[in-house]
Amino acid sequence: MAVFWDTFSGGFMTDSSSLTDEQFAFLDLKPDLEVVLREVHQGLSLAAKAISPKFFYDERGSELFDAITELPEYYVTRTEMALFDAHMAEISACLEENICVIEYGSGSTKKIRRLLEVLQPQAYVPVDISGDYLLSNAEVLLSDFPALKIFPVCADITQSFDLPSQVEALRPLGFYPGSSIGNFEPTDAVEFLRRVHVTLGTGGYFLVGVDAKKDVSILEAAYDDAAGVTAQFNLNTLVHLNERLGADFDLDNFEHFSRYNSELGCIQMFLKSTVPQQVNLAGKVISFAEGELLHTENSFKYTKQEFITLAQSAQFECLKSWQDSKQWFSLFLLRAC
Ligand code: TRP
Repeated sequence: MAVFWDTFSGGFMTDSSSLTDEQFAFLDLKPDLEVVLREVHQGLSLAAKAISPKFFYDERGSELFDAITELPEYYVTRTEMALFDAHMAEISACLEENICVIEYGSGSTKKIRRLLEVLQPQAYVPVDISGDYLLSNAEVLLSDFPALKIFPVCADITQSFDLPSQVEALRPLGFYPGSSIGNFEPTDAVEFLRRVHVTLGTGGYFLVGVDAKKDVSILEAAYDDAAGVTAQFNLNTLVHLNERLGADFDLDNFEHFSRYNSELGCIQMFLKSTVPQQVNLAGKVISFAEGELLHTENSFKYTKQEFITLAQSAQFECLKSWQDSKQWFSLFLLRAC
């Protein structure tokens, strides 16, 4: 089934029928290109060059990330899915009726399916920066869950956004799997949770998956797989910048580099310039020395208590948490208080 905008009726249509905006509506809050460009320029002008990890996720990036989740070294997705399978009924029992699930950075539909099947929420609001991916996934879900109301929001989840008016009367359950919260610096994670608190309101639930601290060799392999998919994913950021902002990064002159920083408790991801070079980006020239690192992502790992303390500083209480038997990954059900 395809969902498309019908200019004649001024509404969304499927192949066979029209959708009322009570059942489906698309809210496009994508940031302006100029704002994006300014942000990228700023990061590339720093002494220690950095770009935001949100630039991983164009359509190709989202596909590559899906491939990462299937890698033998990347235990994160498998472990989290097993926790969902084992505990979703229990999670469901902790919640009130009339739930609206808001998925932060929705990506692929694999995880949300389990949640929708068990929780049977009234509505689902996937929020993602990748608009095309968001819409095509919403289409698939609409045909698989015909009773579900879906209101996709194309937005940058690192900024404040409002929920669609259609879900105002429902109790929100924010859903943030995949240890994506670990991709913020801890202080930014607190800021992020404070904004989530505002969006969900007091009483809102937040179900979040968080990767735990563990043996360094396991962590490092998970972010530098033998097949090189993670390397491709990291390098795709440059393709994205070339296509979206007209930069001229030469992919042959950068390589993937990652390591665990045990002091900070995080995996750090970089693109390493293999030669001295200059890159053009919308009228600015950026110089790289040989071996210079461009930081693309951190992935912070938290013990159970570390994360609960972090959530508390953003006025969330932990209703319950679950870990696998190896204690590699944790799920937390938080509530905004
Ligand atoms: N949220 C994921 C994580 O921290 C993101 C991720 C997985 C990632 N593999 C990556 C980011 C490789 C950059 C490069 O596990």
